[in-house]
Amino acid sequence: MNESTKQQSKYRIAWLPGDGIGVDVLDATKIVLDKLILNAEYIHGDIGWEFWCREGDALPERTIELLENVDAAMFGAITSKPVKAAELELVPELQGNGLIYRSPIVRMRQIFDLYTCLRPCKAYAGNPLNYKEDIDLVIFRENTEDLYSGVEFNPVPAELAEVLTKLSKPFAAFKDVPLTELSISNKVITHKGSERIIRAAFEFARTHGRKKVTVIHKANVVRATEGMFLDIAREVHQDFPEIEMDDANVDAICMWLLKNPKNYDVLVATNMFGDIISDLAAQMVGGLGFGCSGNIGQKLAVFEPSHGSAPKYAGLYKVNPIATVLSAKMMLDWLGETEKGAALEQATAEVIKEGKVRTYDMGGSNSTFEMGEAIAAKLC
Ligand code: IPM
Ligand code: MN
Repeated sequence: MNESTKQQSKYRIAWLPGDGIGVDVLDATKIVLDKLILNAEYIHGDIGWEFWCREGDALPERTIELLENVDAAMFGAITSKPVKAAELELVPELQGNGLIYRSPIVRMRQIFDLYTCLRPCKAYAGNPLNYKEDIDLVIFRENTEDLYSGVEFNPVPAELAEVLTKLSKPFAAFKDVPLTELSISNKVITHKGSERIIRAAFEFARTHGRKKVTVIHKANVVRATEGMFLDIAREVHQDFPEIEMDDANVDAICMWLLKNPKNYDVLVATNMFGDIISDLAAQMVGGLGFGCSGNIGQKLAVFEPSHGSAPKYAGLYKVNPIATVLSAKMMLDWLGETEKGAALEQATAEVIKEGKVRTYDMGGSNSTFEMGEAIAAKLC
């Protein structure tokens, strides 16, 4: 069969295992997706630490091109190291060239404007790791701006210090600090970026029968950015009168979420606060083995478990793939395959409830594959 007569798949999905247990969990997820008989072509993409060390780029140009030509991507995990440690692992011929390691997931989010980080955190019945039963939270985290903007300085250039001395009274507190001993990371947010993530949270609440959106911020201290975020939320809320809105400081919400998780429904936050509360909420529903995630833009969406690459478990097929399987469920929803998505969630929920197959984090001894197979077996 030549190229032109070959049957085209309905979906093109980039398959990006990355590092460490990213490979293990994606392998198990493939078993489940194959059982669903999705009309899809899965195309492997190079990403991760090995490409940083060998090529000086953990997200090579060829992978960016692949992502430009797919409907969605499944991503495993990536090993990240601080800038100096990363440079030391480059092949000798690339050392000293000024290459700077940047997290490929953060780059994917920014290059493809994947502005919504959607992180549902649901306590599935029968999960022995649930902090409390019936928790059902959905986090909307802004995914491209804020402290992740990359606008930062260490050391601080003299021109910048001069301008800040002129324009910012509080900067006087730092006037005697040598510029080599000063660092500045900018928290940059835009009206457009804030409005679209807040609107996405309210739209989700409306279309999913959710009652309340809680806006998380620190408007009392970080007034320019967080204050603007809260103001915009109040404006957007006008368009959704049937949805209740409340707001809370990020520190306080950490206490309240633990105390009364059932008082919360949809949560929305700027990037860094959203990152932090995501881990808190994931832990309440079973930890990182259950934290699923979608990085969603207008044209592309990348789905991933929110855990890291856990190098010490790499290749042992020991870790829990449920976070990745649930991320695949989110991918099915995004592709419009909502029936398959619902079936996959149902199958996963049944396996959790039965409690016969459990990975080590759940107190069992089943492998990553066995978990994938058990979920696949529920899909007929
Ligand atoms: C996440 C992760 C990433 C983040 C890291 C790996 C850069 O913690 O997806 O939550 O900070 O966004
Ligand atoms: Mn995180």
